[in-house]
Amino acid sequence: MTRLNGKVTLITGAARGIGKAFAAAYVREGARVAIGDINLAAAEEAAAEIGDAAFAVELDVTRQDSIDAAIAAVVAEGGKLDILINNAALFDAANIVDITRESYERLYSVNVAGTLFTLQAAARQMIAQGHGGKIINMASQAGRRGESLVAVYCSTKAAVISLTQSAGLNLIQHGINVNAIAPGVVAGAHWEHVDSMFAKLEGKPPGQKKAEVEAGVPYGRFANPEDLTGMAVFLASDEANYIVSQTYNVDGGQWMS
Ligand SMILES: NC(=O)c1ccc[n+]([C@@H]2O[C@H](COP(=O)([O-])OP(=O)(O)OC[C@H]3O[C@@H](n4cnc5c(N)ncnc54)[C@H](O)[C@@H]3O)[C@@H](O)[C@H]2O)c1
Repeated sequence: MTRLNGKVTLITGAARGIGKAFAAAYVREGARVAIGDINLAAAEEAAAEIGDAAFAVELDVTRQDSIDAAIAAVVAEGGKLDILINNAALFDAANIVDITRESYERLYSVNVAGTLFTLQAAARQMIAQGHGGKIINMASQAGRRGESLVAVYCSTKAAVISLTQSAGLNLIQHGINVNAIAPGVVAGAHWEHVDSMFAKLEGKPPGQKKAEVEAGVPYGRFANPEDLTGMAVFLASDEANYIVSQTYNVDGGQWMS
């Protein structure tokens, strides 16, 4: 199947994990994919692994000059920009009384400001091109409700859901669909980091938090990044043209709304 034939795509934070799986899936569907990441060496490795239709772009979503340069680099390489996936994000955990301004600002600058201003730069490019586009934001089950030790991350993901709604309503007049995906728990480096933070905060042995969380997933296991690619391809395809401002749960049954 080649549902994304010739579509030029930028995926932020795609050097590893979910973004990298999206990049590989998009290439399989015929797209040309820019792997944008703050870790350029890892982005280059990921691109080499995925093949000729993938290329690396240095991108720090917390810096406007870097966002603008990355969009310009994608257009220079691919001739246009059709699809953006706002995937880069950071996680942190702490009791409310221990949250630091540094942690708050770090997470908000990547997860919220990074999402908004990368979306804005991509939308400007798509509007100038004049034939619409697709923007997919990575939300989370964490954005659906708070968690005792995860106030900052949860609130950034609630903000992503809200930004998706407003941006979708504002940009559909230009034929740009903005939607989001809310994964549940996905195996990979991110969750190894989450597990080690919970081990410290809750005094659990490494791996225990992950096992407890996995036991609560109705599907019976963590997602693999590949479990999310179907929704990511669908939302970027013409089949999703009438879908505006939505956030879809792909979480093995953890959240219903
Ligand atoms: N893994 C999960 O369980 C899970 C669950 C729900 C939602 N999500 C969301 O899915 C997305 C991808 O998650 P993941 O687990 O693959 O993440 P990850 O931590 O494995 O990868 C994140 C990538 O973002 C890059 N990055 C970090 N800061 C950046 C910046 N300033 N500019 C550009 N790139 C930057 C990192 O270098 C890394 O390659 C995130 O938005 C995350 O919040 C993940």
